[in-house]
Amino acid sequence: MSTENLPQSPEQPPRKPRVAVVFGGRSSEHGISVVTAGAVLKAIDRTKYDVLPIGITQDGRWALTADEPERMAIVDRRPPSVDLLAESAEGAVILPVDPASREVVYSEPGSVPKALGEVDVVFPVLHGPYGEDGTLQGLLELSGVPYVGSGVLASAVGQDKEYMKRVFTSFGLKVGPYVVIRPREWERDEAAARKKIVDFAGEHGWPLFVKPSRAGSSIGITKVDDLSGLDEAIAEAQRHDPKILVEAALHGREICLLYKSDAADEL
Ligand SMILES: Nc1ncnc2c1ncn2[C@@H]1O[C@H](COP(=O)(O)OP(=O)(O)O)[C@@H](O)[C@H]1O
Ligand SMILES: [Mg+2]
Repeated sequence: MSTENLPQSPEQPPRKPRVAVVFGGRSSEHGISVVTAGAVLKAIDRTKYDVLPIGITQDGRWALTADEPERMAIVDRRPPSVDLLAESAEGAVILPVDPASREVVYSEPGSVPKALGEVDVVFPVLHGPYGEDGTLQGLLELSGVPYVGSGVLASAVGQDKEYMKRVFTSFGLKVGPYVVIRPREWERDEAAARKKIVDFAGEHGWPLFVKPSRAGSSIGITKVDDLSGLDEAIAEAQRHDPKILVEAALHGREICLLYKSDAADEL
């Protein structure tokens, strides 16, 4: 006789909410994300939550990974990576796109797909494009799995320094002077695009801060003191995002604020 459908005995503890901690990813901030996930895995209360660590490799495979936060640290200046933590070189975790199901499946070439059970909430611990920029959030909206953090619009706007400034300005907030160089502008006429930056420096002075528009963790950002450093700074920013942003230097103290809200009608 199957005991599966029998009511749970009072001694049996209720099922803990299952949290999928998703980290790594395809952006240049892969390593930073793994470090952050290590901190999350260490801090999460295991008496309250059941944890399923899912690492996204640099080429985008969702891998099952070891639940070993101590291996998720920078060692000898080398950042950790999901490929080193993955339990197999080929297996992939598949999230249901059907909102009626929260059942996660593990598939490995040559094997029958294995059910990994239901996930109650996804905790995205990703940085940068394909993680923090609304794309993963869109996937999670489609699959109907609740997730931690900002929604699609706030993630997309927050990840793109150009659009973040445009939204801030539209709400009356002040932002520092900046210019944007779009990929097509650069492809069409590099000299004209470079002149736009030099003219900007003529107006606002050096140093300039040259940045990829969609990146973070200071990756790809260069402080340029004069014309001689400009070309290398542009190339470095473009390595991370073909759209780049050039800002005038701001003087003052930098303050980071965290804003948390449950209100669905806010950005
Ligand atoms: N316009 C600027 N003026 C002065 N310092 C800047 C400027 N832009 C960036 N920085 C410095 O570079 C750091 C990273 O830049 P930021 O725009 O915050 O990028 P990220 O998204 O990588 O955090 C800032 O914390 C600050 O120290
Ligand atoms: Mg910053």
